[in-house]
Amino acid sequence: MQPATPPRTVAVTGAAGFIGSHTVDLLLKQGHRVIGIDDLSTGSRVNLSKAFNTSGFDLIVEDLVQPGFMEAFCKRYQPDALIHLAGLVSVTRAEEEPELNFRLNIKATQVVAEAARLASIPRLVFASSAAVYGNLPTLPLREVNRAEPVGNYGNAKLISELLLHQYGRSYDITTVCNRYFNVFGPRQDPSSPYSGVISLFTDRYAKGLPVTVFGDGHQTRDFISVHDVAAANALAATKPGLESSSFNICTGESRSLLDLVNALKLQYPDAPTPVFGEERSGDIKHSLGSPQRAKRKLGFKAQIDFEAAIAELTSPLLLERSRAV
Ligand code: UD1
Repeated sequence: MQPATPPRTVAVTGAAGFIGSHTVDLLLKQGHRVIGIDDLSTGSRVNLSKAFNTSGFDLIVEDLVQPGFMEAFCKRYQPDALIHLAGLVSVTRAEEEPELNFRLNIKATQVVAEAARLASIPRLVFASSAAVYGNLPTLPLREVNRAEPVGNYGNAKLISELLLHQYGRSYDITTVCNRYFNVFGPRQDPSSPYSGVISLFTDRYAKGLPVTVFGDGHQTRDFISVHDVAAANALAATKPGLESSSFNICTGESRSLLDLVNALKLQYPDAPTPVFGEERSGDIKHSLGSPQRAKRKLGFKAQIDFEAAIAELTSPLLLERSRAV
């Protein structure tokens, strides 16, 4: 595949994680040199199997908050862009362990931004979240809407965005904050009850177990394939002439949990009937993003059809083939 832009050197923190490893794979496929950083606390080398078999990839196993590490790293490799994806992913853990949330979701951002400043790295991309919007009732959510996060996780993401954009203004770094909606795809970890619903449901069906739908199943989300998210990250890191901004990384289409169950039924025709349980406390009923700004400025549009992405969870080759044509 021809690179969309001239080959660049891109550093990716959290490279061995779910979104990180897909981002690494895509950047390598586009012909870029990639240096991953991961402390392997939640990420895994297995996620990088493909990357390890590709030239132009290195992984450095280190906790990026360690004093002096990021600065030395940036000065040594001088990446053209740094994609900061490492962080505490669990919203529940961020509530239970506020110190950890501060260290991994705020302090780490400061460490990365400062290292980028000292080494004159021109572009920083950050893994933000739709959680910055909190429970805003007006849908679709747009970047011009007030961010009113609820809880430690969403607040940390917003604080990181503000910090990065201030670095961008003061020190001439292009800062891009990608606000992911409900991301799903291969390599997503289903091990906690608070893991993404699609990873949980797929895991249950693969084991022949019923899934539990909390509430009536009419709640909706803007589910986006991890391949599209990787494409948005690659664009944010390599697109020439991009201005600093925050972008919704979403499809602009909503699907209910019942839609999800139906799509999964096509893959697991013998799946047991879902059990319906109490609505989960604190849940929002609907979440939907507007993809317009990302389309206009980043040149990003989600390409992968929901049903095809669900099918990929059971037979990855299907999606490879449909994307090749
Ligand atoms: C996301 C977070 C969640 C956080 C919430 C509030 C993720 C994966 N989840 O939830 O931790 O509290 O934002 O900002 O980042 N569902 C079921 N059955 C299940 C699991 C989930 O019916 O076994 C339902 C949920 O009740 C929800 C929907 O599926 O209505 C989606 O759940 P989830 O994947 O956790 O995403 P968010 O609700 O967006």
